[in-house]
Parts: sequence; C-alpha cells; structure tokens
Amino acid sequence: MSKPEVLLLENIHPAATEVFERNGFVVHTRPGSLGEDDLIEALQGMSMVGIRSNTKVTEKVLASSPELLAVGAFCIGTNQIDLAAAAQRGVATFNAPYSNTRSVVELVIGEIIALARRLVEKTSRMHDGIWDKSAQGSHEVRGRTLGIVGYGNIGTQLSNLAESLGFRVIFFDTADRLAHGNARRVGTLDELLAQADVVSLHVDGRPGNAGLFGAAQLAKMKPRSLFINASRGMVVDDVALREHILSGHIAGAALDVFPVEPKAQGEPFESALRGLPNVILTPHVGGSTQEAQEEIGLFVSGKLSRFLHTGSTELSVNLPEVAVPQLQTGFRTALLHHNVPGVLAGVNQLLADHEANVTAQYLSTRGEQGYVVTDVSTALSPGALDRLRDEEHTIWLRTHSGAAG
Ligand SMILES: NC(=O)c1ccc[n+]([C@@H]2O[C@H](COP(=O)([O-])OP(=O)(O)OC[C@H]3O[C@@H](n4cnc5c(N)ncnc54)[C@H](O)[C@@H]3O)[C@@H](O)[C@H]2O)c1
Repeated sequence: MSKPEVLLLENIHPAATEVFERNGFVVHTRPGSLGEDDLIEALQGMSMVGIRSNTKVTEKVLASSPELLAVGAFCIGTNQIDLAAAAQRGVATFNAPYSNTRSVVELVIGEIIALARRLVEKTSRMHDGIWDKSAQGSHEVRGRTLGIVGYGNIGTQLSNLAESLGFRVIFFDTADRLAHGNARRVGTLDELLAQADVVSLHVDGRPGNAGLFGAAQLAKMKPRSLFINASRGMVVDDVALREHILSGHIAGAALDVFPVEPKAQGEPFESALRGLPNVILTPHVGGSTQEAQEEIGLFVSGKLSRFLHTGSTELSVNLPEVAVPQLQTGFRTALLHHNVPGVLAGVNQLLADHEANVTAQYLSTRGEQGYVVTDVSTALSPGALDRLRDEEHTIWLRTHSGAAG
C-alpha cells in the first residue's frame, strides 16, 4: 500500500515533518501559501494539508480535492477554512488552540514588571539621552494583588507564575474553576476590581464579552492600578481606557489586542491608546514565539496522524469529537454519517447479523453529523463493509486493524 501524502505550506515548523514521517507519511513542504487554483493543483493525491493563516481552504478547493481527508491549521484561528463545507464532505479540521499559552503568560508577566517599574518611560528617556535615576512611581510586584479575569488555560498558568513572584492572586470566572496554589476565587467582577493592584483579562471571545470592560469597570479599579489585556480586543473600550490613563486613575496599561487590528504586515495601526505614558502596545504577539510554533507543529501533526491511523477526531473543530485509543487487536470501523435516527441501530444489527463481537463503541454527534467508531474482535467481510458504505446516510466509512491483529 502506498504511503499517505501530506502537503505542508507556509513554513510550518520542522517538528511537524518529523512527526508525520515517523507516522509513515510522505511530506511535501512549500515555504509560502498558494492561491486557490495552485492549491487545487498541489492537493491532487494529498490525504492531508497543513496551512497557517494565509492559505484559504475554500469550498472550491475542497470540492476539487476528493482525496483530501483532513486539514491542519497550524495556528489558532480557523477563519481561513470553510469549516462547514469541510464538515459536509467529511474533511476533518484540527487547529492548536492552546499551544501558545505559556508564551502569552510570559509576555504578561514581563509587562506587569515593566509597567510597575515604568520601564517604557525610562528606556525612551535614555534613548533621548536623558539620565533620570528617580525611583518615583517605581514599585516591586512582590506582595501586590493580581486580579485575573477569566481563569482558563492562560489565566491559571498566569496564576501559578505570578504566585511564584510573590503576588497574591485573586480571580473571577463565570464558570466553576478550581483555584491553583493559594489563589482565591472571588464572587463578582466588582469584588476583584476593588482589591486588585493589577487587573489582567484572559476571557474568551464569546459574543457576550464584547464591551465587558468599559468606563464603569475602569472606574471601579483601585487608583493607580495597572491594566492588561492580552485576550480579545473587543472586550475593552479603548477610549474609556485612554481617559482613565490620562486622568492618572490607571497608572499603566499593556495591550496586545485591539478592537480593530491591521490585516496585513506593515499596515498602519490606529488606536486611541497611541502616544500615552506608561502604556505598552504590542501587535497581537502574545502567542508568537519560536517555542509556540514548535508546540503547534507537534500538536497539530499529532492530531492529524492520530486521525488517519486510529479514527480519533479528538479536538476536531468541525466533526463530531470521538477520542479513541490506539487499537491493539481486532478491527475498527469508523463511520461518519448524517445525524438521523436509527443509524447506530442499523450498524449494530449488521454487526449482529455477521456475528461480530463488539469490544468497544464510541459515538458522538455534532449538528447534522454523527460519528460512530466500533471495535470488533474479528475483521468484517468486504460484503458487510460495502453494506455500511452504501447506506444512504453514510458520509464515509474507514477501517483500521489492530497493531497486534
Ligand atoms: N494575545 C494573544 O496572542 C493570544 C494568544 C492566545 C490566546 N489569546 C486569547 O486569550 C484568551 C484566553 O485564552 P484561554 O486559552 O485561556 O481560553 P479559555 O477558554 O481556556 O479560558 C477562558 C476563560 O474565561 C472565562 N470567561 C469567559 N467569559 C468570562 C467573563 N465574562 N467573566 C469571567 N470569566 C469569563 C471562561 O469561563 C474560561 O474559564 C482568549 O480570548 C484567547 O483568544 C490571545
């Protein structure tokens, strides 16, 4: 049997190539992205494609690439892929939502210290040739209270690192979250704002979070406190933040995300926050490090390899999620189907008719699709498999044999 082939575009980290090759793929790499027609041509014969944010996987690309089984977005966002069209064709899509968590946390820690020491002003004065050795407005962070809003992957890791620096950590989250270390949960956002010397936002991008942090919330922060947002731009009212910085109520701020961000490298950046004292502005680089790129390479290539070899759709962004272990012995059928009543019963009836002993079965549905993975002790006959394949609600059927089988 020929080896499956994968096309990797846009300088994906070489760690991904290593994972694919270890898993028996033939890897083709190209440094840049491809336009629609070139992409279609390059995808002929490919089982998988790996892209970053500049390659558009459109409906036409998917329709013209019948051999394509999966798309890997080696980044966080998946807007560049027509996810619905991919799902309709049963093309699984994976991304790396958490691989850059540590990078964001390290940036935030650095920013908190930089703001507390007013480093932005100090360094720009030095570049202007001014030696200003004053300790005015400079503080240690030890013993201060850090208020984390949104205690998910990033919030919790920030909590751990901040405690090791001597912060007292409090957090507010709308979901039930277990406190790490000595961190303390507070019941309301207002409670957090009343106590925190530094407020750092790490909420997700659900629509309800638009405008979460405006004039009212800024006014409730402690006088001379610090404010950080490395979550989503739409969460903060930048004009209100500008006023609170100019009034001196907020002593400093660091922003990595903005309500409107330039689309391309080199485009001008407009913001009410430009030119303010003790304000750090960074171009959405919280997660952009070499280490995060490597993590992303390892993570997405691992998910794609597992999908092909085991049928696992764990953390797929568009197909029903089923996390299955590597099959040790026996035979596995993985059936993606339209989510209508009776499919599972039909599968099990067919297995019973062929006296196939089911050893494990996993089922999940998502919107209009269902996915059922069934392990049986002995291989099904080609006739039985054809019957499953020919069912009107089948999107695809794949089989896997146990490593020791
Ligand atoms: N700056 C960057 O480069 C960068 C990089 C990675 C992630 N991010 C962003 O950082 C944010 C956090 O990422 P994560 O991986 O920790 O997400 P996550 O989903 O693991 O955690 C988000 C947490 O926020 C909580 N939450 C949501 N709305 C809330 C609200 N209104 N009040 C209180 N809590 C609320 C959720 O319950 C959850 O616990 C996301 O918006 C993500 O897009 C930015």
